[in-house]
Amino acid sequence: MKDLQDGFRLETHAGRFPISKGELIAKIADKEGILCMPYDTIDREVIEAAADLRAISTYSVGYEHIDLQCTKSRGILVGYTPDVLTRATADLAFALMLDVMRRVSEGDRLIRSGGWQQVFGPCDFLGTDLETKTVGILGPGRIGLSFAEKAQAFGMKVVYHGNGRLSERQERQAGIEHVSLNQLFSESDIVSLHIPHTKRTHDMVNRSLLAKMKRGAFIVNTSRGRVINQKDLVLALQNGDLAGAALDVFYDEPLGADSPLAKMENVVLTPHMGSSTKETRENMARLAVLNLKMAMAGRRPKCAV
Ligand code: DGY
Repeated sequence: MKDLQDGFRLETHAGRFPISKGELIAKIADKEGILCMPYDTIDREVIEAAADLRAISTYSVGYEHIDLQCTKSRGILVGYTPDVLTRATADLAFALMLDVMRRVSEGDRLIRSGGWQQVFGPCDFLGTDLETKTVGILGPGRIGLSFAEKAQAFGMKVVYHGNGRLSERQERQAGIEHVSLNQLFSESDIVSLHIPHTKRTHDMVNRSLLAKMKRGAFIVNTSRGRVINQKDLVLALQNGDLAGAALDVFYDEPLGADSPLAKMENVVLTPHMGSSTKETRENMARLAVLNLKMAMAGRRPKCAV
């Protein structure tokens, strides 16, 4: 923030809750640049309310909350924060996978509720080994590939499916194998989602894909909640078709404690915190500010959408 005070008239929205659309529209009217959060919807109505707007910088790698058609037609430069959050997000995806497969949160809840009675039962808290399992990565982008590296270090086989196919060299280097979407879901013991939310990926993981998964498979999502049809996921979990799910993102956020997901022992939930490490959030802030400053100076942001 200090960085932005130099040379700019700065107005900030304080507080833990997002600015309302009405307030944003009123406040943006005389602004030339905006630094927004992933939960701020910067749609046509907002953009049109700001006649002088020429720079948008989002503190996120996702940018589906910004109307890019509109920014393009207005010549507004848009920056985002890729790369700096790759490891942190892949780490969380991995932590979630470990948690749901080894039942870490479930064990934690047992102790806190005073329910741990028997010292050691040979069949207590049986989880699932990671080693030798196949993990399917949907979306072999930066985060998906970083996740793949970790999975390999744990002795897992990694297959992937994405929009396009990696080059043979990239596949060899990463030690991962391309499969069809159907194969990804039918052959994997765990599917981890690393795709953006677009019109094409909306509700992509639905009843029909979930039905292809092995009975006893797991699903991990650290990308965007709306790439999964959450009702279909709940059904698959309730029917016992899936062994468990570990989710950092949801159809609607924040997820309430009354969600059926929050009532299932075999579901691990975290509050959209994939990039949330001190180091990463600091780097995201620096990059978002740099992007904004460059765009305000009429230059292409360091990380431009
Ligand atoms: C991102 O950077 O897009 C994170 O998911 C926060 O929304």
